[in-house]
Order: sequence, then structure tokens, then C-alpha cells
Amino acid sequence: MLKLEGIRAGYGDTEVLHGVDLVAKERVTTAIIGSSGSGKSTLLKVIMGFLRPTAGKLIIDGEDVAHVSEHEFARHRQKMGLVFQESALFDSLTVAENVGFFPYYREKKPWGKVLPLVREMLEMLDLPGIEHKYPAELSGGMRRRVALGRTLIYRPKILLYDEPTTGLDPTMIGHVDEIIREMNEKFQVTSILVSHDLESVLDVAEHVFLIQDGVAQDVGEPWKLLTSKDSRVMAFTKSWRDHVEMYRKLMHSKLPGANEASQGETP
Ligand SMILES: Nc1ncnc2c1ncn2[C@@H]1O[C@H](COP(=O)(O)OP(=O)(O)O)[C@@H](O)[C@H]1O
Ligand SMILES: [Mg+2]
Repeated sequence: MLKLEGIRAGYGDTEVLHGVDLVAKERVTTAIIGSSGSGKSTLLKVIMGFLRPTAGKLIIDGEDVAHVSEHEFARHRQKMGLVFQESALFDSLTVAENVGFFPYYREKKPWGKVLPLVREMLEMLDLPGIEHKYPAELSGGMRRRVALGRTLIYRPKILLYDEPTTGLDPTMIGHVDEIIREMNEKFQVTSILVSHDLESVLDVAEHVFLIQDGVAQDVGEPWKLLTSKDSRVMAFTKSWRDHVEMYRKLMHSKLPGANEASQGETP
């Protein structure tokens, strides 16, 4: 379990997080939503230990690591994986070299030791027989999986996704959502999904926190985004709720298309 208590953090004299309380339960996908600039990426940096908090507790597996040494934090960081964007694949390297990139090129492990791990990973990701291909030969969905394989080769217990669907078309968003769900089932990871895509959040998350004004609000189950009477939640989801309302109205309007659709239901 990952737990943040009263986390304060920022850059220089500017505090961005003013006391964040948040819990990500084991094997659950927790979404963090909030408008641009609200501090979502900053929060992920704190969890990864790239940015150390000035106050508060960061509890990983029961241990407060907020103020431990860098050396000590590195041990905890191994349990976590930050999911790379598709563009992070090296075009000049094969799929196998991309997946085995960190153990082979950074840790200098022999390729003979890395390759079996790579093959196992590709199999688990339903990508058999593509190890000699290059990224350019793959579909967008496959490239995402390969990029994920590079993080998963370390078998992290916690996966952090920072806006994984930003800039993608609806089909690709569906692929990414499916991958996130699959990771939880196959690898039994705890996932933290930062997103401003409400549809994605409703699709894959099991619990939602809303970040606003430097604090996190526990929204609860995703459907509460639609029903909550809390003013902050309502403000954040307003345009989306309007959207849903618009569709509802369209379904009952006298537009020719909508009319045909509703005629079928009327005896
Ligand atoms: N490296 C940085 N140095 C200084 N300010 C930063 C840095 N990164 C982010 N910020 C500021 O911190 C605030 C929160 O940013 P960020 O966590 O990236 O928001 P989000 O991911 O929710 O869009 C913003 O005001 C941003 O300008
Ligand atoms: Mg961000």
C-alpha cells in the first residue's frame, strides 16, 4: 500500500502541494485527476522520490520514506515503474533491445541473461515473435505494449501512469485502457493513473482523488464524479456532465436520426 499524509512539496520557494493526503490500495487502480498545473506530475515525482517533500509522510509498504537518504530511497524506487510514452522507444533498436534496454545498456548485464527475460515479457504482453522487428514496423498499440515491457521487465509492484492517453485518438485510448486493466490482472500491480480523460478514468479506475489548490480530495468510486454534489467535484466535471446531458437530450429530441432510434422502443 502507498500512503501520503500531509505531503508538502514544490520548487524553490513555490509550494505546489500544500498537504496532500492520499491512499493507493494494493492491486487497485487509483486515478488522480485535476486541471492542468494542479500538481499531478509533481505528486508522481514525490512518489518516485525525484522530488523530496518538505513535510509529511510518504509510506511505502508500511515504511515512511519521505526523509530517508537517496541511497535508501533507491531501494524503494525499484518497486515502482513510471510508464514511458510511446515516443520513448528507440527507433534504431529492435523490439528485444528496447525491452531489455535498461538491464543491458545501463546495468551492463550480459545479453544472454537479458534475452530470456525479454522473451518472457513479450509473451506476457501478447507480443510473440516480434523481437527482431523495429518500432516503425509495429502498430501504435503494439508500440505502447513494447514501451510498457521496458518498465515491466523489473516487475514493479507499483505502476505510475502520467497522462498515458493524452494526444491519442479514441481507438488508441481504448488500447491503453485495456493495457492498464490487463496489467492489474496479470501482474497484480498497484496502479496510479494520472489523467484528465474522464472517460478513461471511469473505464479503468476503482478509486479517484481530485487535486485542486494543492490538496487532494477523496472522491471515492469513479461514478461519484457524475453524481457528487461537492462543489469542487462539480466544477471539475461540469463540461463533461453537460456533455452527457446533451446526449440524453439528443436521444429524446425530434431530430430525424434520434427519432428513428427512439421509435424502435415505442410499441
Ligand atoms: N521543474 C519545475 N520547476 C518549477 N516549477 C514547476 C516545475 N514543474 C512544475 N512546476 C510548476 O508546478 C505546478 C504544478 O505542475 P505539475 O505538477 O506539472 O502540474 P500537472 O501535472 O497537474 O499539470 C505548475 O504551476 C508548474 O508550473
Ligand atoms: Mg502533468
